[in-house]
Formats: sequence, C-alpha cells, structure tokens
Amino acid sequence: MSETIQKYKDYIMTGFMKSVAPIVIDRASGAQVWDETGREYLDCFSGISVVNSGHNNPKVIAAAKAQIDKLVHCASYLYHAQPVADLAEKIAQIAPNGLTKTFFGNGGAEAIEGALKLARLYSGKHEFISLHASFHGRSWGALSITGNQGRKKRGGPYAPGIAFAPVPYAYRSLWPDDSERCAQYCAKCLDDVIRFETSGDVAAFIAEPVLGEGGIIVPPPNYFREIKNVLDQHGILFIADEVQSGFGRTGRMFAIEHYGVTPDILVTAKGIADGFPLSAFTTRPQIAAAYKPGDHLSTFGGNPVSCAAALANIQFMQDENLPARAAEIGEYAMKKLRDLQKQNPIIGEVRGLGLMIGVELVRDEKLTPASSEAEGLRDSLLKQGLLVGVGGIYGNVVRFQPPLIISKEQIDRAINLFAASLQEVTQAAAV
Ligand SMILES: Cc1ncc(COP(=O)(O)O)c(C=O)c1O
Repeated sequence: MSETIQKYKDYIMTGFMKSVAPIVIDRASGAQVWDETGREYLDCFSGISVVNSGHNNPKVIAAAKAQIDKLVHCASYLYHAQPVADLAEKIAQIAPNGLTKTFFGNGGAEAIEGALKLARLYSGKHEFISLHASFHGRSWGALSITGNQGRKKRGGPYAPGIAFAPVPYAYRSLWPDDSERCAQYCAKCLDDVIRFETSGDVAAFIAEPVLGEGGIIVPPPNYFREIKNVLDQHGILFIADEVQSGFGRTGRMFAIEHYGVTPDILVTAKGIADGFPLSAFTTRPQIAAAYKPGDHLSTFGGNPVSCAAALANIQFMQDENLPARAAEIGEYAMKKLRDLQKQNPIIGEVRGLGLMIGVELVRDEKLTPASSEAEGLRDSLLKQGLLVGVGGIYGNVVRFQPPLIISKEQIDRAINLFAASLQEVTQAAAV
C-alpha cells in the first residue's frame, strides 16, 4: 500500500466516504488528474464541483503566485487589502441585480452561517424554512437547515425554529410528467408550512437553485417565481445557496438567473476561486447594514491569495464565456446520456442544467433506488480512469460535474467509459 494511503489510515479522520478512493492524486491540469504512479484520470467531478475553470488554470495560478510574493495574510477585516476590494467590486458587477455588498469567508458552511445570522439581524425574526432533500453544509447551523437525514444522522437534536417544505423533485412526485404542476403544489405547500408549522416569525427561506447533494434536482422553470410570490406575501427573505450551482456551473453565472427572480442574499463558495478556499455571501446594502461593528468576523476570511485567484478565475470565465460553454457542452452530454438511457432501463432519469448533471439509477418501474449499483459504477469508473460523483437522497445518482473547460472529445470518452461500466454493473447485478 502507498505510504500516503497508510498515513491517511493512521492519522486522518475520514468522516464521509466508507473508504477514500484508493488513489493518491499527485497533479492536475484542465480536466485531467494524475495519480502518484503517473496514471491519468479524466475528472468529471471537479473536486466536488469546484475547479470550474479547470485544474491549475494558468491564469488563476499566476495571479495567486503573484499575490503570494506580496502578501498572504494580514486579517482582511482589520486592515484593507486590494484583492479583497477588487473582488468584492467584481462580484457586485456579476451578482443578480442590486446585490452589491459581500462578506468573505473560507468555506460554504461558514458563508451559510453568516447569511443566516444576517437574515436574523436584518429581519428581527428568528425562524427559517428550508427544503426537503437540501444540503447546506456540515456545521451545526447548516446541518440544522439541511433536509436530509442521511447527512444529519447522529448529530441531533438540531436548532429549533426550522421548518421544511417539499422539494420540487418531479421525477419522484405524483406528477412525474408534469413538473409545473409539481412546482405549483410545492409553492402551495410552502404557504401551508408558513401558516401551520411556524410561529410566523420567519427570517428567511433558503434553497439551492439546483439541489446538488440531494441528487441534482432541477426545480421547474416557474418554481422560484411561485415561491417568491409566497415569500413576498409573508415578508420573508429568500437566501439562494449557490455554493454548488454558482460560477457558471449551470450555464449562467448563477443558477437563480434561470428562474428570473432575485434573491435577497446569495451564498457562494466552491467555484468562486477555482480551488482556492474562499466563500462569500452577497446582499443589498440595506440588508448588509444590519451587521453592526462586532457582529461578524472571520480571521482568514477574504484571504488575499484566494481573492486574487478568484478575480483571475472570474475574469477567465468572462473572457472565455464559460457559462455559455457549460450550457452547450451540458446539452451535448445530456443528449448522449439520454440516448444511453434508451438501451439501459437502469437509467431512470437524466437531468441537469449546464454541466451540473445527474443520472438517477433505478432497479424497476417503482423507482427502487439502485444505490449499490451507483457505487459499483463509481468504483468501476475509477478503475477505468474516470472520476465521477455519487449522491442523491438514496445515493443512486451518478453526478457529472466536470470542469467547464472540458472538451466534447473528453465528454465522448467519459460517456463511452460510463456506458461500458454500466453494462458491467448491470450484468453483475443480474447474476
Ligand atoms: C449547496 C451547498 N451548500 C453548502 C455546502 C457546504 O460547503 P463546504 O463543504 O464548503 O462547507 C455544500 C457542499 O457541498 C453545498 O453543496
């Protein structure tokens, strides 16, 4: 066994996967990574949907290196630092209308916590509503608003004052062929949840515009407009958790743009700095003003190196029109996967937006989740040199979330490998 893997076993607390994939990643470039033996892999998971501009993007790396030579850290909330100011200005330019003030943190969960706190301070209300099947991070507050027992188990009891509304997951709803009806039903349920499950003291509703860990669930086109109407009637803020769906991933800079509504607070992380640790929440000046001196701080938040990397990353996305590219390549990939679905009844649904694609595997017409098959598929693909994710509330959704710079030829290769492994896994399951 590799020395690195042995040290992981001896010294690292691994708390997510049953076992960490048995490879040691040594270097990466674009959509490819190499392990310590020199073996090459095609990466269709981007370090959990992070390196949207590609691994070790030369422009991002150059910006980070230049910043390292000047300043790594001096507490960006005690003193000013130029990359932090420049990045905040850039985010104000690209964020949905009117969201111009940003707080920087280090990871998604931290930004979620900050956004929840801000919503409470601004509204003077204290409850939250979230969605079934949602995921918002691993800190206690973020887990409290996460709607998935799989992620919450062994951690309760959680924060009080949180209610959950049904998710518009049309494929597993009563209206698999009528997603708009599903959306209307879910919006009506939100109104019921507010009336019957809360005290009326609701600060904010939080949702992922496309649910990532829940299994790449894409709400129907009218969903967020209907939801926003309900929220406006009750004077409740809308927090869009774009930690996973942001920065070009879904074919727009932010996934909520597909839905024609503006959130009150936008939370981002993962894709913001192409792999450098950084997160943000961005809001209107009026809401931002609710933070008074002493209310919030993060020692490492707004790290100058991460901010310089993020600036170069966003510039690259704009120069290369990366969101549009994600939309085009995503359509291409989904068409190929849907062709594959015709010969493979185990593929229950192919869904996604841009390059945030989920392939839900089922055993039969009752939609029994093919969870062990999905895991088997991931393991088989790893052996063949392809990295994919597996997620979903039943662990039966194969996730394709490659760097947005992936080429059509690389997509072809990935889907050919997927088809071969699918056959291997379904044959093994039939024996
Ligand atoms: C939608 C969403 N929110 C929050 C988080 C938490 O982010 P982090 O792992 O950086 O804390 C994640 C992570 O997967 C996520 O997908």
